[in-house]
Amino acid sequence: MKNQIYIETYGCQMNTYDSDLVQSILINHGFQMVDSPNQASVALLNTCSIRENANNKVLNRVHEIKRVSSDIKIGILGCMATNFKTELLDNKRLNIDLIAGPDSYQALPSLINDAIDAQIQEKPFDVTLSEFETYESIYPAQKDGANAWVAIMRGCNNFCTFCVVPYTRGRERSRSISSILDEVKLLEDQGFKQVTLLGQNVNSYRFGNDTFIDLLDQISSKTSIKRIRFTSPHPKDFPIELLQLINDRPNICKQIHVPLQSGNDRILKKMNRSYTQVEFLSLIDTIKSTIPTVALSTDIIVGFPTETHDEFLDTKHVCETVMFDHAFIFKYSERPNTRAALKFPDDVSADDKTERIMALIEMQKSHSKIKNSQWVHQKQDILIERIDDHQLVGRNDANVLVYCPKSNDLIQVGDLVPCMIQSATPHGLKACVHQQ
Ligand code: SAH
Ligand code: SF4
Ligand code: F3S
Repeated sequence: MKNQIYIETYGCQMNTYDSDLVQSILINHGFQMVDSPNQASVALLNTCSIRENANNKVLNRVHEIKRVSSDIKIGILGCMATNFKTELLDNKRLNIDLIAGPDSYQALPSLINDAIDAQIQEKPFDVTLSEFETYESIYPAQKDGANAWVAIMRGCNNFCTFCVVPYTRGRERSRSISSILDEVKLLEDQGFKQVTLLGQNVNSYRFGNDTFIDLLDQISSKTSIKRIRFTSPHPKDFPIELLQLINDRPNICKQIHVPLQSGNDRILKKMNRSYTQVEFLSLIDTIKSTIPTVALSTDIIVGFPTETHDEFLDTKHVCETVMFDHAFIFKYSERPNTRAALKFPDDVSADDKTERIMALIEMQKSHSKIKNSQWVHQKQDILIERIDDHQLVGRNDANVLVYCPKSNDLIQVGDLVPCMIQSATPHGLKACVHQQ
């Protein structure tokens, strides 16, 4: 049981990808992955630090695992490792045995061996952030399914004042196009029909003279992947040529995530976002006119320090103007040592944050319903993600969830199935398989 490792993942898709990468590294070094902490000598938690509740979830889970399996060693990977560093090891109640940050996974086999070795007193610890580590030629052990993630760049140089990512993930760096193409071709051979390119600022990709446009162009023209998506982009890196490429290529999904964060210029400045309300709206106009069928999603933070009700209304105004297909809306959560935490007190009351988030969620529901309704009576290809007893669950090109009664047993997860869309809710679409 010494070599048996269990891994659990929190946070964003980059962590999902990294967990697969870790599994690939560990399997290559003779470790065996198991499905439950009960069977493992080491449980690795790949963690997120983006908001306070993400941290709390993991801390509770550590106690839970220790309660059930008292002998197990626990390792913290991911963003809490680089965010809290030795603080985690010093916490006697938690009793963590190993810490490894997002750039230290190649050292994990030896860190784990040290954690298991009773002779070694010092707890293994590596949270060094690298300017170069891209895990260029290590391919993650991707599970079956409809979508495969491919990390193309890592890190962030933007230092939005609320955000912990530049501290937990370090500086931006990209992989070569050739190594990304090799990985995508491998996924294509495994039967994946969709890849999602990942990066903390995915469209800031740059390797030598190669830009994100060059990369998308090559994946789109040199592979037979049917659906190419990317996340998460920054509004500052959307040249018109990129939008034209997305519009021109049938295998690049007409779906773009454009994180707004706030619609008020004073707050945007305090957040260190590099655009104003007018600039954001003008980008949206350009996207909509270049890609007429585009589906747009966004991220919003309500209750950033000093945000007044009127300033919040500016955010609401932008949402009303754009009518996003989908929005991820968060209450501001102060992250220790970020610029916002050091400079601005978290002074918007919990009640005000709740009121603002509820207002936006309500409005977004009605927008999503309207946007989803545009697909009704259309024939669309649905990429099947899951098959329940009587139902197929998949997504259309716009990334909207589609539910469809199962018509036969031939359809598999990962298939692209032509469906007729019948009705829409704020949360998804109902459809039936289109009989030729
Ligand atoms: N790199 C991406 C995603 C970063 S994290 C980007 O720039 O879009 C995903 C989202 O979490 C952010 O877009 C932001 O809306 C939210 N977020 C980040 N830090 C936060 C904080 N301190 N409090 C609340 N939400 C936060
Ligand atoms: Fe965080 Fe801003 Fe970087 Fe996104 S762009 S990861 S929100 S600092
Ligand atoms: Fe969380 Fe780190 Fe991703 S903080 S959102 S796991 S980059």
